[in-house]
Amino acid sequence: MTRDPEAPLSEEDIAAAMDLPKVELHMHLEGAAPPAFIRGLAKEKNIDISGIFRPDGGYAYRDFEHFLSVYEAACTVLTGPEEFRRLVQAVLEQSAENGVVYTETFLSPDFCGGCDLGAWREYLAAMQEAAAEAEAQNGITLRGIVTCIRHFGPEQAKLAARCAAETAGDWIVGFGMGGAENAGEQKDFAWAFDAAREAGLKLTTHAGEWRGPEEVRAALQDLRVERVGHGVRAAEDPALVEEIAERGVTLECCPGSNVFLGVYDRLEDHPIDRLRKAGARVTVSTDDPPFFHTTMRREYRDLAQTFGWDADTLREVNQTALDAAFCDPDTRARIAKLLEA
Ligand code: HPA
Ligand code: ZN
Repeated sequence: MTRDPEAPLSEEDIAAAMDLPKVELHMHLEGAAPPAFIRGLAKEKNIDISGIFRPDGGYAYRDFEHFLSVYEAACTVLTGPEEFRRLVQAVLEQSAENGVVYTETFLSPDFCGGCDLGAWREYLAAMQEAAAEAEAQNGITLRGIVTCIRHFGPEQAKLAARCAAETAGDWIVGFGMGGAENAGEQKDFAWAFDAAREAGLKLTTHAGEWRGPEEVRAALQDLRVERVGHGVRAAEDPALVEEIAERGVTLECCPGSNVFLGVYDRLEDHPIDRLRKAGARVTVSTDDPPFFHTTMRREYRDLAQTFGWDADTLREVNQTALDAAFCDPDTRARIAKLLEA
């Protein structure tokens, strides 16, 4: 019997959606750090960052700009490769608890030794070691996307791209850009993205979260990315949505993040369902889960409740994410089997 698509999902249907094995494409490693983990490191190292926490222990910030500065303050306790090893361990434990079987995370050489290549290699080795341990323990697979930080400027981005290009391979699979979307233009970073592309890396950039559809166009034209971080404000331009659908561009949607930061007032207003119905390849991720009080299970619950996305729909969304994952074909085939299970 097929379900009436207009009827609300039952508790059972929602639980089935939440329990699915999941693929996540858009998560910032430092932004996924549990606040207790950061507080613990601050205490160990005697670094006073008490101002970034609320009385209840969560991260405290007013708006997106302030979020970015609280984020950078939290990163000051991540002082070396060992701290990043522990961070990867803590984050993957959380992801595995949420049923994530494959995840790509943004890694910033800026926070790993200030984009010094030798230091970056050491940080990376520590993170890969933790990822291999987590894979052996929990069956979760991690791949890294090196990101430059937009508000640090194009010159610094070149250094991040060099770290990416020099370590590109089966584990560092992509290059991207995060940070303040109102800092400069996408095209200012073309040199960094070209260098990463030439090294064989796949590309994504944050666009169309704070700025409108023109920013998504710039990402596609000037940086020639195959995925767009967020990209949701493309929904304001039907011709662009059509182009995204036709070209098969994948949108790394993070609905909970958008609602928490006020890009949309309510999940009901979020365009993810409309974009999907228009043929755009949409995927679901958490962005910076503890900052936005979300998890992958909560994202799935909210999408199921709000848009009636049942397990079949979310299975399709996971397949879309896996198709757009930057990993090698063997890894993709292995994960596909886990999604079928
Ligand atoms: N958006 C943009 N840049 C970021 C984010 C984010 O959510 N987290 C860390 N850098
Ligand atoms: Zn992001």
